[in-house]
Amino acid sequence: MKILFVCLGNICRSPTAEVVFREIAAREAPDLAFEIDSAGTAGYHVGAPPDTRTRQAALRRGYDMSALRARVVEPQDFRRFDLILAMDLQNLDALQQRAPAAARDRIRLFLEFGPDAGATEVPDPYYGGANGFEEVLDLVEAAARGLLQHLRAELRRSTLSQPQLPGP
Ligand code: 4NP
Repeated sequence: MKILFVCLGNICRSPTAEVVFREIAAREAPDLAFEIDSAGTAGYHVGAPPDTRTRQAALRRGYDMSALRARVVEPQDFRRFDLILAMDLQNLDALQQRAPAAARDRIRLFLEFGPDAGATEVPDPYYGGANGFEEVLDLVEAAARGLLQHLRAELRRSTLSQPQLPGP
């Protein structure tokens, strides 16, 4: 299963989702194989490491983001990934506009998978205070767990609905 997380600059929210989901999936679903990546809809920070405030907040919870570098969403991403998850409505809209029609149903809001029906967007922390980075982590950790549960349920459903081989 290939999952791409997308925000605006690919230096705060989507790289956070990338490392958090990778860590939670490795710990809680070691039997499932994931390819996980992140990208931005804007190219302001291409090649840059994640924002220092983002990296420090993540490290305090045990997530190492030092190997990540920002990149922009590319046309082949719409073919490559099974699920493309936007951090907010602005980026969802940007993705929908760029995607070929065949890819549109694979583009969703990440927080659809979160437990809190009240929050639909991961707020952009870039111009805000330190609390914004903690809020991003809280929302992302909860939605990553929700996403993993959703994918497990889907997998179970598709395995159950596969035709059984005839017995001897
Ligand atoms: P991100 O945050 O989309 O979560 O990576 C931002 C990073 C940079 C900018 C805006 C948002 N910027 O305007 O440079």
